[in-house]
Amino acid sequence: MTGQAGRTGQSRWIEPLPPELVHEPLNWLFADHYRHRQLCRLLERVGNATVLLRDEAREIVDFLRHDMPLHIIDEEDDLFPLLRRRCQPADELGALLGALSAEHRDDLEQARALASGLERALTDGQAPGRDRDTRRLFTEFALHDRRHIALENAVVLPIARLRLTAADLRSLSVRLAARRGILLDPPGDEAAS
Ligand SMILES: [Fe+2]
Ligand SMILES: [Fe+2]
Repeated sequence: MTGQAGRTGQSRWIEPLPPELVHEPLNWLFADHYRHRQLCRLLERVGNATVLLRDEAREIVDFLRHDMPLHIIDEEDDLFPLLRRRCQPADELGALLGALSAEHRDDLEQARALASGLERALTDGQAPGRDRDTRRLFTEFALHDRRHIALENAVVLPIARLRLTAADLRSLSVRLAARRGILLDPPGDEAAS
């Protein structure tokens, strides 16, 4: 995939997203949630190890610094505004989207703190799992992220499948792709050409 300048190393534990999936934006987001679950497993592995797992730590830092903020922007700037426009009062989605947005803000802050902690560990060679409080930060972040993802998969994405129009999905694809340096034709161009 393009648009990943500055990435360190190869992904081994967290699978890359197949670029062609961007044409199915809700499946893209669902697949990205699966990657978050892979992150959570990796966080628990690194957080509980008493020796520093360097390759795993680098991959976590990479995900927390690049992939996670992008996913949150995908939802905050594109998916959630579309849903707020399309959902019906009976969907009762407003409060849930508000709660998930608040979690996004906390997640970004915690992700930055975890990434900084891991970067320090990579410099000084100390395993984060040697300290009980640090270990807890890893496991709590994983627990929290799994719960967040489960809610989005169980409630937000099914309502999006129901309510978003074909034009919404197309514009979502264009925006997700553009955020990763991939240029898709804007909605309406196919009909015009
Ligand atoms: Fe989210
Ligand atoms: Fe999400």
